[in-house]
Amino acid sequence: MIETADGFRLLTGYFDRDAQTRLVSDVLERVARAPLYQPAMPRTGKPLSVRMTNLGPLGWMTDKAGGYRYQDHHPVTGNPWPDMPDSLLDLWGAVSGWPDPPQACLVNWYGPDARMGLHVDADEDAREAPVVSVSLGDTARFRLGGPERKGSTQSVRLHSGDVVVLGGASRHFHHGVDRIYPESSTLLPEDWRPGRINLTLRRVRD
Ligand code: SIN
Ligand code: MN
Repeated sequence: MIETADGFRLLTGYFDRDAQTRLVSDVLERVARAPLYQPAMPRTGKPLSVRMTNLGPLGWMTDKAGGYRYQDHHPVTGNPWPDMPDSLLDLWGAVSGWPDPPQACLVNWYGPDARMGLHVDADEDAREAPVVSVSLGDTARFRLGGPERKGSTQSVRLHSGDVVVLGGASRHFHHGVDRIYPESSTLLPEDWRPGRINLTLRRVRD
């Protein structure tokens, strides 16, 4: 466990192997109904290297025409996002310290070459509620900076079953994923390997 004065917490091994296996199956059963899609940057339309879908009442997405936003339906199927598994609601209850449940669970799938550039989660009206995320599958090198883009950063490895909480000041800190370590985990089913799934829980509306 790592905890900083800024409210960043890394709960290593929060989910044991059996709990990870159950969570993966609960998530993939839902992803089968709300398939991963390729998000794209606003304006340029440049594709992101991760593929995404969402669970819960709202989902974060981005595409060339609409930019970053939350919406209540899948962009390809048009259906509402599937519900969040109870285990994720329980996780939020246990670690967020926030009275209301999460409204969005972004599902990111990182293939062997995927990464996520440094960014701040800033598309939520709910600016105080923490962001809680779960790592499943291959290990990632996660990078955490500060409030300014140009500030110093530190990296930490996130392993399958780890939970990160961006609370307090760290809620508005830059962060990203430099790389994953392909084949470092045997958790995910073969069709999803090498790869990493990250689940990010957020409050969206105040
Ligand atoms: C994100 O910031 O959206 C994802 C972080 C992660 O994959 O660990
Ligand atoms: Mn983020």
